[in-house]
Amino acid sequence: MEKLLIKGGVPLKGTVTISGSKNASLPAIAAAILAGGKSVLRGVPALRDVLTMGTLLEQMGARFSLEDSLAEIDTAGLKNPVAPYELVKTMRASVLVLGPLAARYGRAKVSLPGGCAIGARPINFHLMGLEKMGAKIELEGGYVIAKARRLKGASLYFDLPTVTGTENLMMAAALAKGVTILENAAREPEIVDLAETLQAMGAKIEGAGGSLIEIEGVDELKPYSHQAVPDRIEAATFAVAAAITGGDILIKNARPEHLDAVSIKLRETGAEVKKTPAGLRVKGDGRPRSVNITTMPYPGFPTDVQAQFMALMCMADGNSMINETVFENRFMHVPELKRMGADIEFQGGVATVKGVPALKGAQVMATDLRASASLVLAALAAEGESVVHRIYHLDRGYEQMEKKLVALGAQAERIK
Ligand code: EPZ
Repeated sequence: MEKLLIKGGVPLKGTVTISGSKNASLPAIAAAILAGGKSVLRGVPALRDVLTMGTLLEQMGARFSLEDSLAEIDTAGLKNPVAPYELVKTMRASVLVLGPLAARYGRAKVSLPGGCAIGARPINFHLMGLEKMGAKIELEGGYVIAKARRLKGASLYFDLPTVTGTENLMMAAALAKGVTILENAAREPEIVDLAETLQAMGAKIEGAGGSLIEIEGVDELKPYSHQAVPDRIEAATFAVAAAITGGDILIKNARPEHLDAVSIKLRETGAEVKKTPAGLRVKGDGRPRSVNITTMPYPGFPTDVQAQFMALMCMADGNSMINETVFENRFMHVPELKRMGADIEFQGGVATVKGVPALKGAQVMATDLRASASLVLAALAAEGESVVHRIYHLDRGYEQMEKKLVALGAQAERIK
């Protein structure tokens, strides 16, 4: 297992270029299933999860390649609409093939994604939506089997604004007969990006980015050529890196308008966050002030930045409350941060962080993608040396993280 050796205490300075969004690339690759032929996606990060999605399509009979951030997906040979357990258990986002397969092939067999470190992650809203659109859904041997001669438009309401639920059903509705309404839909920028990808394929979609999305199904869609939106969570992670190390980083390719909640909260801690023509410039300013956050669906403070922000609050001048409302178990980074001297207690979804003047380097273990980012940030600011174990979690969502950090002056090295 690979690990990261980090010597902390160096203010990070310079320019970093943000890669394309993982959470926009994954649904876009699945969307290629909706059309026969070759789709092209640019700005795709070379991440484990992206390669897993490509492998998933390949074992269905499609062709997938990723070279220099350019993905080509040719679904002409797709004939086996099955997403097997072996692949789905390594990446829950595999569930995103369910809607497209049901819509285009009238049948899909997708392993029920298990839970993961951060929560049970049910997909009931995905299945409810497909059922309302006329699909016959059966659960058999840990697999979801969906059958539908042709999906038909329906009015759907999500109890929670599910991101991949909205994406799955938007894709299914694009080829359904009639109009589908998604109410209380997720509003993330990745939803807007997927809508633009589908529109490039000929889909008729209105309202993406808002809570009510209307999709008028068409009979056929054509392959797309699209550029994935930059990864706002990676951008937020580097913004926190500047704040936590007292550095000064120009985050190129970031879309400031996708980072309002994070920018506002970082400014409250005392960091300087400025929009520039190239992206976002973030400067740390000594010991951060303590600030409370509550994670919410977009445009609220993103749950995917909660762990990173907590690392910053560990060294704040005061106490902060961190309320995680989206996932039921997203504090796995807490015990690891405490190994570095952080003072954190949590009850249910609320963590109280008592700021300490400094963290101390230690051996810590990553448990999930954003927790690993949190530990890297803490190690960059801590006194002395840290080793972050199990960084395969980090590689799921960050392209060449340590190379980008070293280019900013960090003393970080990947060791086998
Ligand atoms: C997406 O996951 C992201 N993944 C997650 O990013 C992100 O944390 C999450 O949205 C929230 O923003 C991708 O886009 C690939 P949800 P998703 O459905 O779609 C409950 C990362 O770090 N729910 O919006 O699975 C669910 O349990 C990953 O990159 C149901 O109850 O999240 C959760 O409490 C981690 N039933 C809440 O809704 C359902 O059918 C939000 O989940 C679906 C969801």
